[in-house]
Amino acid sequence: MSLVRSERRGAVALLTLDRADALNALDRATLLALEERIAELARDEWVRAVVLTGAGRAFAAGADIAQMRGMTPPEAEAFSRLGHRVFGALEVLRVPTIAAVNGYALGGGCELACSCDWIYASEKARFGQPEVNLGIIPGFGGTSRLARRVGVAMAKEMVLTGAPIPAEEALRIGLVNRVLPPDELLARAMSAGETIASKGPLAIAIAKRVMQEGQDVDPRVAHALEQQAFGLVFATEDRSEGITAFLEKRDPVFKGR
Ligand code: COA
Repeated sequence: MSLVRSERRGAVALLTLDRADALNALDRATLLALEERIAELARDEWVRAVVLTGAGRAFAAGADIAQMRGMTPPEAEAFSRLGHRVFGALEVLRVPTIAAVNGYALGGGCELACSCDWIYASEKARFGQPEVNLGIIPGFGGTSRLARRVGVAMAKEMVLTGAPIPAEEALRIGLVNRVLPPDELLARAMSAGETIASKGPLAIAIAKRVMQEGQDVDPRVAHALEQQAFGLVFATEDRSEGITAFLEKRDPVFKGR
């Protein structure tokens, strides 16, 4: 059985980390399974959104501590590189990704959630970067992606104290978009995915990309990127359909062309 299950519900793909007996700790095998699932989704033109969650009581309780025990410095660097490769692939997926954080999102689990476009959290979720408790540091993007989400001072507090925060605090600092009752979490994330799936896929992909790339560059470059992309979407059939449908007072039928 795979360490990361993938299922399709309509146009939304649901990925589930499935190593519940270790609280979905991210060992090499789990990272490689996740990479495979992401590659499959990248090739699947019918998938319009992805929801990522964890089986059992955790989203993911971090990188696998047992596996890290005997690592040499070069092996640790390679492990970090593997995590970055996989999370980077998730981050640049053409379709939007939503983390549905059902429980612990610690260390690599928090970093994984931060590689998704946004996060919905269960009331039971806990977020943290506890690596310093082990004498190590975040290795899968926690020193950068977390800071971009919550600001550098808040990220420093999380990384440098190692203290976890509950879902409500994660909401307050902007790490998560919504906190939901546990039994509503997945349905709400899937429903957001379905909403995305009802839009023009080219507009969604281009908007995601411009927002992603725009974060890393000078504001003037970000504005120029947006202007070019705005022109680009006007070359699509979907924009003719979307605008015509509005003016004709009917629902649009987007074809992704
Ligand atoms: N790596 C490997 N195994 C892990 C793990 C991790 N990051 N997190 C949890 N597990 C394993 C535990 O070793 C335990 O395995 P066992 O049943 O074979 O003993 C199992 O998952 C359940 O965890 P347990 O600690 O018994 O659950 P708990 O409810 O008492 O505590 C946590 C939950 C999340 C608070 C605790 O597991 C924890 O602190 N995990 C490590 C978090 C961390 O430091 N992550 C960053 C790593 S860089």
